[in-house]
Amino acid sequence: MTGDVAIRALRADEAEPFLALRKAADAQSRYLLYGAGERRTTVEEQARAIAELLGSGNSTILVAEAEGRDGAGSLVGYLIAKGGGAERNRHAAEIVVAILDAYTGKGIGARLFGALDEWARGAGVTRLGLGLMDGNVRARALYEKMGFREEGRRKAAFLLEGGFVDEILMYKLPSSIL
Ligand SMILES: CC(C)(COP(=O)(O)OP(=O)(O)OC[C@H]1O[C@@H](n2cnc3c(N)ncnc32)[C@H](O)[C@@H]1OP(=O)(O)O)[C@@H](O)C(=O)NCCC(=O)NCCS
Repeated sequence: MTGDVAIRALRADEAEPFLALRKAADAQSRYLLYGAGERRTTVEEQARAIAELLGSGNSTILVAEAEGRDGAGSLVGYLIAKGGGAERNRHAAEIVVAILDAYTGKGIGARLFGALDEWARGAGVTRLGLGLMDGNVRARALYEKMGFREEGRRKAAFLLEGGFVDEILMYKLPSSIL
């Protein structure tokens, strides 16, 4: 049950809680690009990046917000879709997603990707792409469930805890599936 978690678009004035969420997710997962404490972005830089992204017309940030005991919400997950900047790749967006540990395994990932499909239809985005570390079984299961297919590998793209790990590239063409 995720009845107390809402999926919505991030607002431009939420740089601070969004950055805090990203740092918390970095600290919890070994499968994200940055490790604990490695993200040096300031709130001002994050605010500029959000404004640029939301102003582009072919990018979005979706968040999962859990209702707190006092009625105030807290951000517990995010999905960033960043569209291409040229005429020739404006239709294509790259996805990054993370959910705080305590909220994984509750279908929030599927709900974020459901909202992404809806957004992509409205924004004219017809290709979705993402990359994941080989071994991130849970992420792969979610992406396959949401219609993504493997399209290639970047060998030894990451150095994780002393060992090289491939990046698996996946894609989805929503217009041909829906
Ligand atoms: C990856 C992530 C986005 C998945 O979202 P989620 O809401 O936790 O998704 P779920 O746990 O509901 O799992 C999705 C599917 O994977 C399956 N799954 C979960 N854990 C699994 C595991 N250990 N092995 C195999 N499959 C697993 C589930 O069964 C589910 O499918 P189902 O709904 O048909 O049963 C989330 O776990 C996360 O943010 N993890 C940390 C950061 C990360 O890895 N981000 C992705 C980087 S590419």
